[in-house]
Amino acid sequence: MQYQGVTIAIPREIMPGERRVAATPETVSLLIKQGAKVVIETGAGIGSFIEDSSYSQAGAIIMDNRSELFKKGDILLKVKEPLYCKDLDIHEAELIPDGRTLICFLHPANPANHETVRILSRKNITSFTLDGIPRISAAQRMDALTTMSTIAGYKAVIIAANRLLRFIPMMPTSLGVIQPAKVMVIGVGVAGLQAIATAKRLGAKVKALDIRPEAREQALSLGAELVPFEIPPELAVGKGGYARRLPEEWYRKEREAIQPHLQDCDAVILTALVPGEKAPLLIDEAMVKTMKKGSCIVDIAIDQGGNCALTRSGEEYTYEGITISGIANIPASLAIDATWMFAQNVLHFLSHVVRDGKVITDTSDPIIGGTLVTKDNKIVHRGTLLAMNLDPDNI
Ligand code: NAI
Repeated sequence: MQYQGVTIAIPREIMPGERRVAATPETVSLLIKQGAKVVIETGAGIGSFIEDSSYSQAGAIIMDNRSELFKKGDILLKVKEPLYCKDLDIHEAELIPDGRTLICFLHPANPANHETVRILSRKNITSFTLDGIPRISAAQRMDALTTMSTIAGYKAVIIAANRLLRFIPMMPTSLGVIQPAKVMVIGVGVAGLQAIATAKRLGAKVKALDIRPEAREQALSLGAELVPFEIPPELAVGKGGYARRLPEEWYRKEREAIQPHLQDCDAVILTALVPGEKAPLLIDEAMVKTMKKGSCIVDIAIDQGGNCALTRSGEEYTYEGITISGIANIPASLAIDATWMFAQNVLHFLSHVVRDGKVITDTSDPIIGGTLVTKDNKIVHRGTLLAMNLDPDNI
C-alpha cells in the first residue's frame, strides 16, 4: 500500500479570509484506503462547510491541539504557506518537527516568504510548492495553479458584474434595447480564457488581447474580438510556449494599442503574466483617467504586482469614478469548489511524490524538479534562489 506507515496531517488554515482546506472527506478516505493515517485539526473544513464529523466518518482522527497535530504528521498538507500563529505565539514552520515533509502553495520566490523558506531549510524539512507544478500533460491533475486560476478568471467577471451600475447582457425593454456591456480581457491564459467564457455567458461584448498567437486563437474560438496588436512571435513566445518579457518599447506600443479600446469599455479584466516575473504594466494612470465613469478594472495579476499602475494589493477602491479591484485570494471566495479541486490536486500530487511510504525527491523528474523547495538543509528551488540573489548553480 502506497501510504503504509505514513501519517498525514491537515491543519486549519490561519491566513485571514482563507476558507479552503487541503483535504475533503473524499480524499481522506482514498488516502486511508492506501494505508495512510490521517489527522485533521478541529474545524479545518468549516470555511468550506465540511464538518469534523464528515472527516471522522471518512476515517480521520480529529485533533484540537494544533501543536500536537503538527508533531503527528510525517507529511503536512496545507493550502497556504506557513504563517506566524498568533494563538500559539510561534511560526507554523517552527511547529513542524525536523525532517518532515510539507506540501502547500509556498510562493517561495516572493520575498515575504523567504524567511519561512529559510526556517524550513534550517529544520531539514522537505518542502514542495504547488505553484511550481509545470504545465505538462503528466501534471494536469495536480495543477493547483490552473484550477485556482480557473476560479479567479470566472470570479473576476462576477466581481465586475457586481460593481458595474448597468446590465451585462443586451436587455430588450418596452423603452428600447439596452446595449450589452463591453468587457476587455487582457492576458488570455487559464484565467483569461475563463474570464472570456464567463463574460460571454453573461452576454457581454468581449474583446481580448494576448501576445501569444495560440492564446489569441483560443480567445477567437470563444467568441471574443481581438484587440489588434502585431508583435513578432519570436519576441513574444519563449521556452515551453510561455509568454516572454518584452522589451520596454513593446510595452509602450502595447499600451498604445490598448488605449482606444479602453475608453469604450465597461469592465477590464487583467490577467497578463510572464511566469516567474513581475506582471507587465499595461495600463498606466493616464490611461485610467480616459476610462468611462462607472467602469471597473479587476486586476487579478496583483499577486505579481498587477497590470494596472493604480491597483492596490488586497483592496478595492474608486478612482475618479472607476472601481479598481485588487482583491487577493479570489479562490477562497468560492471555497466549496476551490477546496474540492485543491484537495483533488493535492491527492494526485501526493500519489506522484510518495512511493511505498517514502517521499521521493529526485529532481530529474520535472514535476519534483519544479516543486521541491527545500531538502537536506538546503534551498534547492531555482526561482527562489534567484529571488534571494543566490547562485542556483552553486549551492
Ligand atoms: P497564465 O500564465 O496561464 O496566463 C497569463 C497570460 O498572460 C498568458 O496567456 C500570457 O501569454 C499573457 N501575457 C503575458 N504578457 C502579456 C502581455 N504583455 N500582454 C498580454 N498578455 C500577456 O496565468 P494564469 O494561470 O491565467 O494566471 C493569470 C494571473 O492570475 C496570474 O497573475 C495569477 O497569479 C493570477 N491569479 C490570481 C488569483 C487571485 O486570487 N488573485 C488566483 C489565481 C491566479
